[in-house]
Amino acid sequence: NACIVHCPGTVANLVCGFDILGLALEAPYDIMHVQLIDEPVVRIKNLDDYNLPTDPEKNVAGVVLLEAMKKTDGTVGFEIAIDKRIKPGSGIGSSAASAAGAAAAANYLLGNIFDRDERIQLAMHGEKLAAGVKHADNIAPCLLGGVTLIRSIHPLDVLSIPSPDLYVTVVHPQVEVKTSDARQILRTQVPLKDAIKQWGNIAGLVTGFFQNDLELIGRSLEDVIVEPIRSILIPGFDEVKKQSKAAGALGGGISGSGPSIFMLSADKLTADKVAAVMQEIYEGIGIAHHVYVTTIGKQGVKVI
Ligand code: HSE
Repeated sequence: NACIVHCPGTVANLVCGFDILGLALEAPYDIMHVQLIDEPVVRIKNLDDYNLPTDPEKNVAGVVLLEAMKKTDGTVGFEIAIDKRIKPGSGIGSSAASAAGAAAAANYLLGNIFDRDERIQLAMHGEKLAAGVKHADNIAPCLLGGVTLIRSIHPLDVLSIPSPDLYVTVVHPQVEVKTSDARQILRTQVPLKDAIKQWGNIAGLVTGFFQNDLELIGRSLEDVIVEPIRSILIPGFDEVKKQSKAAGALGGGISGSGPSIFMLSADKLTADKVAAVMQEIYEGIGIAHHVYVTTIGKQGVKVI
């Protein structure tokens, strides 16, 4: 009646696919210890220094577990200890990791009572608490692994997309970008010519993933709608993108709503070069930063 869950970080949007595409990272991941208890309550303990709320109604994992409890006979609850390794507010799906991990743990401890889509729905309660909107482009890849497409939220229609084994370099410059702010500044109308470019890129990116066509993936990683506006919030963005590509990256852009920036590469050597480029740029402009070199995580959440 207990389990340990590894909940990986995720990159939402994948540049052109605002709110519909995402991928799971192999690392970093949060670790959660979850236990079924004989009391209809949720108890939360933090094992890290982020001081996230321990009131289950205000905690991303907590609301998911409270929701899962509604499917029980009312005699059981959960005790959860959370070791966050994905920094909250970094743009690599920290809240989604908590939400998806809680959904996976609840499902496991209650005897696999939730199917795939129910686990996604369950986890979306946490994302709603964190971001104010129920988007699934971090939740789905975190739960399912690999690259996912959210074709629709109402009704839920999530598809897994096969992908080549790509390396991902992520830089997290320590500037604050709130998802809610990064959503508010977006235009609500899109000129038709931009829309045409964008859906061409999304179709190209998905085709590239299916066909292992790295060149196609690279040239489809272009966003003419969201990135030009959001990138203003991220110092060094244009430079990181330009120099990473010069170092051999296929392409990349803002991770989720930022401030992290991610770049895809075909091999580890290139991914490491990209990491060095990112380090140098943020050292140059004097902004504290953290760089990760990892791969696309094929498995997503692991329940042990
Ligand atoms: N798709 C969302 C956004 C992800 O870009 O606002 C945020 O985590």
